Amino acid sequence: MNPIFQDIAFEENPLYETIINDIVSQKYAIVENFFDEKEVQLLRQSLIDKHKEDAFKKAAIGNKLNATIVKTIRGDVILWMDESNANTTEKLFFDKINNLVSYLNRTCFLGILHKEFHYALYPKGTFYKRHIDTFQNDDRRKLSFVCYLNESGWLPENGGELVLYLDDNGKEIEKIIYPFPGRVVIFKSQIIEHEVKPVKTERLSITGWLKTR
Ligand code: OGA
Ligand code: MN
Repeated sequence: MNPIFQDIAFEENPLYETIINDIVSQKYAIVENFFDEKEVQLLRQSLIDKHKEDAFKKAAIGNKLNATIVKTIRGDVILWMDESNANTTEKLFFDKINNLVSYLNRTCFLGILHKEFHYALYPKGTFYKRHIDTFQNDDRRKLSFVCYLNESGWLPENGGELVLYLDDNGKEIEKIIYPFPGRVVIFKSQIIEHEVKPVKTERLSITGWLKTR
């Protein structure tokens, strides 16, 4: 190969290729073990520690301009993550995310320039009603990313399943996704309506968005 091209050639990553293909063909991707057991344990502990410090806020609907707490729509509590102030575990998290983002930008011309992530805790009995992840006055969110930090042995009976509402040739179908630890779900923020069903056992996760401009 011409040495100049060799220099800029990069390794194809089969996992990332699968994610991209799934997003292109079905508008979402489910990745098992995006984070391994040890990483889930560390991230889970980081969430629990911060929750103990009482750093979480009741999640607000909408962005800063139209923030209102509406318990009838969502009941989770969240804490935004600060990459510039990340602990060791969060650095590990952002390394993986940044790796994926740079791959997406090199191969898909998505132009992801910004990202935002928050920890989320759904206390028993809470939910997040059907919604879409883009705001009326801000459509920069391109891809939604959810990673589940529940304890191993999480059961479907614990509730809190993510439901994606998909279009199947004009017919609506429901894709039910259980929040098993280490599992990551990525979907198109501007298109996919979704909801979190009521949880019967505290449900932990990190949710984030990859954004343009
Ligand atoms: C959200 C959301 C889904 C989930 O935070 O906007 O839809 O499964 N989360 O936690
Ligand atoms: Mn959402």
